[in-house]
Amino acid sequence: MPNQTLWGHPKGLYILFFTELWERFSYYGMRAILVLYVTAKTTALNPGMGWNNVSALELYGWYTMMVYVMSVPGGLLADRFLGQKKTVLLGGFLLCIGHFILAFDTLWAFYTGIVLIILGVGGLKPNISTMVGGLYKSGDVKRDTAFTIFYIGINIGAFTAPLIVGYVGEEINWHYGFGLAGIGMAIGQIVYMFGQKYLKTVGNFVPVIKENGIRKKVKLTSIEKDRMLVLILSFIIVIVFWGAYEQAGGLMNLFARDKIDRSIMGFVIPASYFQALPAFYVILFGMPIAYLWTQWRKMGKESSSLFKMGIGTIIMGFGFLLLAKAASNASISFDGKASVYWLFAVYLLHVIGELSISPVALSFITKLAPVKYASLMMGIYFMVTGLGNKLAGMLGEAAQNTSEKTIFISVFIFCVAFGLVLVLFVKKLKKLTHGADVDSNTNPIVEIS
Ligand code: PHE
Repeated sequence: MPNQTLWGHPKGLYILFFTELWERFSYYGMRAILVLYVTAKTTALNPGMGWNNVSALELYGWYTMMVYVMSVPGGLLADRFLGQKKTVLLGGFLLCIGHFILAFDTLWAFYTGIVLIILGVGGLKPNISTMVGGLYKSGDVKRDTAFTIFYIGINIGAFTAPLIVGYVGEEINWHYGFGLAGIGMAIGQIVYMFGQKYLKTVGNFVPVIKENGIRKKVKLTSIEKDRMLVLILSFIIVIVFWGAYEQAGGLMNLFARDKIDRSIMGFVIPASYFQALPAFYVILFGMPIAYLWTQWRKMGKESSSLFKMGIGTIIMGFGFLLLAKAASNASISFDGKASVYWLFAVYLLHVIGELSISPVALSFITKLAPVKYASLMMGIYFMVTGLGNKLAGMLGEAAQNTSEKTIFISVFIFCVAFGLVLVLFVKKLKKLTHGADVDSNTNPIVEIS
C-alpha cells in the first residue's frame, strides 16, 4: 500500500484541494463575467445580451443563491442514494457540461448552462467539503488545519479566475471566457477521477437499515439532538456573517467605485480588482491565522469553533467601523472620496474574520452532524450561506434609501454585539456539543453517540 500521507495530512486531502480549486476557478470565473456579459450591448464588438442592470443583478442574485440552495438536494442525494464520492463525480460532470454549453452563443445554451451549473455546484460543493472532514477521525485536531488548507485552495481559484477568465471574456470574447471556465472544471474533474485511489475510505454510501422492506426510522439519540441544536444555532451565525461580508460584491463594490480615490502612483485601480483582494488575503493569511489559533489552543485558552466564530464576527464587524469612517471622510473631502488604504484595511479585517469562521464552520459541521445526516447538514449550511448572500443584497438595496454610513455603522454594531453574546455564552453552548467540538489538548475525550 502506498504511503497515504503527505506533509502530515492524508493524500486524499490534496486531491480534494485541487478538485475544489478548479471548481471554484470555474465558478468565480463565470461569475466574474456573468453580469458584464448579459448587460453588454448586442451590437458591441464582443456582443452580450443587452439586458438592463436591474434584470442582470436580479439574475445574479437568484443565481448565487440557487447554487447554494441546491446543496440541500445535493446533500440528500449523497446521504440517501449515492454517497458523497459519487455525487461529487456527478456534480463535476454536470459542471463540465454546463460551462462548456455556455461557450455556445445561443439563448437555449445560456439557460441550459446556468441550470446545469446550479445542479452541478449543488452536487459537488457540499459533498466535497464533507469528504474533507471524513478523512479525519473524530477528535483529530488536524481537521481544522485541513479545512484551512482546503479553504486556501478555494481562494487560489477565486483569486486567479476573475483575473484570467475576466480578461479573456471581457477583452476577447465572452464565450471563450465561459469555455475557459469549463476547461478549469475539466482539469478539476480529471484530478478527482485519477485521485480516486486516495479516497477509498471516504465518501462511500452508508445504507440505511431496512426492516421488512420499510425504511427504518432512525431515531436521534439525545446527544445527537443536542448537537443538532448547536448546529442550527451556528447557522444563524453563518447568515449574520455572510449577510455582512458578502456586501463586498455589491454595496462595497459600488462604494469603491464611487467614493474611494483608487489612484496609486498615477495608476487607477479598477473597482472590480478589489474583488480579488479578499481571496488574496486568504491565501496569504490562511495558514498564519490557523497557526495562531493552534498556538492559542496550546496555551490552554478557549479555542472552540463557536468561540472562533464569535471572535471572527467581532473582527469582521470592526471592518465596518473602518468603512463608516471612510464614508464619513469621503463626505467631508473636497472630491467626495476617501483614501484607498481604507479598503485594504477593511478587507484585511474581513478576511481575518472569514478565516476564523468559514473553514471552522465547515469543520464544525463534520464534527457535529450525525453520520446519517452529515451531507444533508452540510447542504443546509450552504443553503444558509445562500440566504446570507441574499441578505447582503437586501442591505445594499437599503443603503440606496439611507446612506452607506448608516448601513455600515448598523452592521458594525450588530455584528460586534452578536459576536460578544456568542462569546459570553460559549461555555453553555459547548456543553451541548458533548465534547465533539474538541478545543484543548487537556480535553481529548469525545463522547461517542
Ligand atoms: N469563498 C467561499 C467559497 O467559495 C465562500 C463560501 C463560503 C461559499 C461558504 C459557500 C459557503 O467557498
